[in-house]
Amino acid sequence: MLTWDDFDNEDTIQTAARDAAMAAGDSEPVGSEAHSGRRESHLPQQPATAALARAQAALTELNIQEGLSDLEGSAGRVSVDAKRMINCRADLNQLVPFKYDWAWQKYLDGCSNHWMPQEVNMTADIALWKSADGLTEDERRIVKRNLGFFSTADSLVANNLVLAVYRLITNPECRQYLLRQAFEEAIHTHAYQYCVESLSMDEGEIFNMYREIPSVAKKAAWGLKYTRALSDPNFTTGTPETDRELLRNLIAFYCVLEGVFFYCGFSQILSMGRRNKMTGVAEQFQYILRDESMHLNFGIDVINQIKIENPQLWDAQMKDEATQMILQGTQLEIEYARDTMPRGVLGMNAAMMEDYLKYIANRRLAQIGLAEHFPGATNPFPWMSEIMDLKKEKNFFETRVIEYQTGGALSWD
Ligand SMILES: [Fe+2]
Ligand SMILES: [Fe+2]
Repeated sequence: MLTWDDFDNEDTIQTAARDAAMAAGDSEPVGSEAHSGRRESHLPQQPATAALARAQAALTELNIQEGLSDLEGSAGRVSVDAKRMINCRADLNQLVPFKYDWAWQKYLDGCSNHWMPQEVNMTADIALWKSADGLTEDERRIVKRNLGFFSTADSLVANNLVLAVYRLITNPECRQYLLRQAFEEAIHTHAYQYCVESLSMDEGEIFNMYREIPSVAKKAAWGLKYTRALSDPNFTTGTPETDRELLRNLIAFYCVLEGVFFYCGFSQILSMGRRNKMTGVAEQFQYILRDESMHLNFGIDVINQIKIENPQLWDAQMKDEATQMILQGTQLEIEYARDTMPRGVLGMNAAMMEDYLKYIANRRLAQIGLAEHFPGATNPFPWMSEIMDLKKEKNFFETRVIEYQTGGALSWD
């Protein structure tokens, strides 16, 4: 942490005196090597004044136009009409004027919801996890499987955002949200790691589940299929096929990974919290669910905006493909529910979860303008909708560990 005490030491005063002397043209200023008797081998051999002269000369040769031409779409001032979600030629460094106010609003909302994993009290969880008869084997299986799945799933999402999606979404206000989302994904991965560490779990077992446990591995492998082509640095959009490849990626990650794959685990862990078990882990998941609801809604807005701006992409074949993707994802999540709940546990079972996932799948299909596939599917866990309703959520600060101070704060004493 930086304090004003740092400015009171001798080195700082000598540096300031030397700078002042050099500014006055003194070639052998106070505090220089000759005066102090010290020799620091990393300093350049030529006099500092010559180095400064070279730096100034280099700046006089700086060509403004050359610098600008390296930037994406920097031809001139941006008008709202020139802004587009993909394949945009307007300057991507000019945030305003906004075209997609909803994207900026989501960025602001994401910042207002900022939280950190260390703010959640894990004491009761540690005691319960360590006590021999605290949890049943089925409950322990749920905690482990979900930490295993989510600890790598959020990394997959973050990598897809940064390495694939970000450069292909050609709109600055959406990129601003993507940067916020990417940081939130880092916080989520941190939260899972924090739970694993607090509970002294076997890290190797948890972090390798996406390779070693079939129901987890299948979900990860399914998502990775859709990021492979876009992660190639030479991939660009601009043809109907590559534009559709990006759309498939957005549907895979926003509608399926964040929109279906997270929901069995979220409802299991939150059901545990409702029964007063593993309340710290459940609280972490509750904050994550709040963030994820916004990621999902942002992704759906982006997909629908791309459809509006590029209606030719959304033909019968693409609609069929998108429907297939959501149905495949739902099937994988149903298999995950069966694997994580071989028997009824926490007032739920695999059959109820299947109903819930079909209800979720219908919503995802409808949200991107596709026909629902499971007529009459209903939500057996109405409390999940209540938890996701931002207006009804408990005050974030009620459960904050108050001794914790957010990093990077300046101390003035
Ligand atoms: Fe996440
Ligand atoms: Fe997310």
